[in-house]
Amino acid sequence: MTEEDVLKFIAKNGEMVVLRLAGCPDAEDIISVIKTNAPDRSYVLMEYYGTKPDSVKTYICNMNFDKNLLIVAVSGKTAVGALSAIQMDEGRRPETAHIMNIGLHIKPEYRGLGIGTQMLNYTGEWAKEHGFKKLEANIFTTNKRSLHLFERAGFVEEGKRQKRIRMGQKYIDEVLIGKIL
Ligand SMILES: CC(C)(COP(=O)(O)OP(=O)(O)OC[C@H]1O[C@@H](n2cnc3c(N)ncnc32)[C@H](O)[C@@H]1OP(=O)(O)O)[C@@H](O)C(=O)NCCC(=O)NCCS
Repeated sequence: MTEEDVLKFIAKNGEMVVLRLAGCPDAEDIISVIKTNAPDRSYVLMEYYGTKPDSVKTYICNMNFDKNLLIVAVSGKTAVGALSAIQMDEGRRPETAHIMNIGLHIKPEYRGLGIGTQMLNYTGEWAKEHGFKKLEANIFTTNKRSLHLFERAGFVEEGKRQKRIRMGQKYIDEVLIGKIL
């Protein structure tokens, strides 16, 4: 079911962007997008697969695509955005199997063009169609753009974890947000 175009739209810079289901062959592209986002964090995928390219590839290639969603946004031939929606606890706990955890990454030069909004909207539809009941994400309190984007897509704040992430000498609080489908 991978490598299927699901949506085409014109981004705010006039470029045609294609959203496409991603899979094993896209592992390297996805990593290259995520790497450009390192300081902003939100690396849901990395929490699962670690940071080594080989482990990334293995993780992605072994994903169950009935229960997890990977999409890339492509402009020309280049992936400019990647979204992963991963079933909570990898589906091992029936109590949390109705939840997807989202990580969204857009290359810096493609931000603010509406691409993240389209990817998030598509994910909500996909999750509903696949029987999920809730989407969740964790966002740095400092990440105003992301908070704005998720709130506009219907997510609400569910709490705040203080000093959740250490970056060098600094500690950053994290906002837990969720959307009931
Ligand atoms: C957060 C991110 C995914 C957003 O994607 P995007 O394609 O740039 O988002 P969009 O263009 O669809 O929408 C961005 C919205 O934020 C608004 N925005 C931009 N800068 C902002 C700021 N500093 N404060 C508040 N809102 C801001 C835009 O105006 C736009 O809202 P609007 O459509 O109501 O005008 C992208 O910036 C990114 O990859 N950031 C780094 C990784 C990350 O933070 N991921 C999210 C955590 S899971």
